[in-house]
Amino acid sequence: MDTYHERAALRSRLQGARAQGLRIGLLPTMGNLHTGHIALLEDLRQACDISVCSIFVNPTQFGAGEDFDRYPRTLPQDQEQLAAAGCDLLFAPSVAEMYPHGLTALTTVTVQGLQEGLCGAHRPGHFQGVASVVCKLFNIVQPDVAIFGEKDYQQLAVLRRMSQDLDFPLRILAGATRRAEDGLALSSRNQYLRPDERQRAPMLYRTLQQMRDAILSGIDDYRMLESSATGLLEKSGFRTDYFSIVDADSLEPAGTQTQHLTLLVAARLGETRLIDNISVNLAAAR
Ligand code: PAJ
Repeated sequence: MDTYHERAALRSRLQGARAQGLRIGLLPTMGNLHTGHIALLEDLRQACDISVCSIFVNPTQFGAGEDFDRYPRTLPQDQEQLAAAGCDLLFAPSVAEMYPHGLTALTTVTVQGLQEGLCGAHRPGHFQGVASVVCKLFNIVQPDVAIFGEKDYQQLAVLRRMSQDLDFPLRILAGATRRAEDGLALSSRNQYLRPDERQRAPMLYRTLQQMRDAILSGIDDYRMLESSATGLLEKSGFRTDYFSIVDADSLEPAGTQTQHLTLLVAARLGETRLIDNISVNLAAAR
């Protein structure tokens, strides 16, 4: 696997591949790779001829006081994992390479309507940072296909809309959430958890499953389910940013007519913010 730190070098390598008619696939990441990322790479490789993984801890998607400085940077281990998994190219640019004009006056992308609620309400500017950097990655790599995880459900929705609205000629794939045996969604941030917090963390997914089962049993008072889920989490020591039951496509609050629902949660255990979600398709279930 070849690693590129500069846009121009990666571009010229990819030009050659494109000229041969090879389909290019992109997996954007912030590194510190785990089994969830590698599973996305495996899904991506089924859909392309040349796989490109990017590793870039993007400063513009972190708010003041968030974990940008302490986000784990583990490039050598990531390179080993990617090479073992059959990744073809790695793009690992520096902040100066991605933002040569600095971080203060930037051209940005906003995805109105999808970026404001849920995590957007608790992390102002986050999705603008994500959409802008992914837009740049799409322009640098010009992939035929790109993959994102359902684990970050709102991010996936924002990026799908961005890609449609800005007419990127590529297909976006969604990879299923990979979990630890006890149900906790894999995340680079799980390592921040203290042992007692790690033990309580699977409660997040269990609560989602419990609320999904309640919905499948016919309960459609979603606001009541949201507050009972929040209550359960708070009792277990979580501080809940939100527990929301929304329309899977619009991310608007679900009502009794909504067929395809997604239950999303963001909650803090100690210093660590965890997110997870689960979907329910009532049309398929009934
Ligand atoms: P990062 O958190 O490194 O995640 C990279 C990709 O892996 C994202 O699409 C994310 O949804 C997916 N992913 C993370 N955990 C997963 C799991 N347990 N199962 C399946 N997929 C999982 O998300 C980002 O980076 C950044 O915001 C990025 C899109 C790279 C823009 O900077």
